[in-house]
Amino acid sequence: MSKIMDRSPISIAENKDCMDMMREKPDGFWDLVIADPPYGISYQSSRRTDKKSRKPKIQNDESPFIEWIEPLFEKMNDGGRLVCFYRWDVQDMFLNEIKRSGFTVKSQIVWDKVVHGMGDLLGEFAPQHELMIYATKGRFEFTGKRPKTIYRHQRVDPEKLIHPNEKPVDLLKNIILDLSQDGNKLFDPFLGSGSSRIAAWDMGLDYWGCDLDKDYFCGEEKRFAAHTSKPLLFQPDEMYNFEQTKLFTE
Ligand SMILES: C[S@@+](CC[C@H](N)C(=O)[O-])C[C@H]1O[C@@H](n2cnc3c(N)ncnc32)[C@H](O)[C@@H]1O
Repeated sequence: MSKIMDRSPISIAENKDCMDMMREKPDGFWDLVIADPPYGISYQSSRRTDKKSRKPKIQNDESPFIEWIEPLFEKMNDGGRLVCFYRWDVQDMFLNEIKRSGFTVKSQIVWDKVVHGMGDLLGEFAPQHELMIYATKGRFEFTGKRPKTIYRHQRVDPEKLIHPNEKPVDLLKNIILDLSQDGNKLFDPFLGSGSSRIAAWDMGLDYWGCDLDKDYFCGEEKRFAAHTSKPLLFQPDEMYNFEQTKLFTE
């Protein structure tokens, strides 16, 4: 990917069900999908002691949400790439559904968050990573440097999160850099805080994203508006000449 932006990329985000957004698109529409679906843990952050400022529960999080995978397959181009976040204890459900839908599973990717989170303080290992499945529709070959299976990026400061599952923009930029080509279209079916939208915008990639939750969607819209009114401090080509960790700060 040349990363030279000669126009503003398309950037569409909607407050809707991803099943509807997929239905509206023709077959073979997207080249790259980065998905961070509800894992089925009925998650609500208990970090904040003030109950009023707790983030709302994640919608659709009663059981691992995998129903979007099969319809997605048709909507992706030949050679399309899927990166799907998942949790180790529901790995089988995601892996089986991705394979059953026609994708070829190629790699497991690890996001090393550098700093560990909380979890069961006395009973479990301190959690410091998240996992992704990398799968393709047909075959995709890397043309540049072959990416490694571990991305190292500091997680977002919990005090600055606008969404409990917010991914760092830098992490998503590096995934996009490794997996996209000029003119590609990116889809994030579970937009959340909109980190993927900001990453795609900065990388000059056309983008579609959606989220069911109205409150999270409004937060994302504000964040994106604030981001795009800011000029980029670096040319995108320059930004990747450094170590991955803490490359970008928002
Ligand atoms: C794990 S979070 C994604 C977080 C996001 N990656 C980020 O960086 O902020 C999953 C999101 O999916 C949304 N969601 C759940 N079911 C959905 C559906 N059927 N269509 C669209 N969004 C959905 C939830 O509201 C939640 O915001």
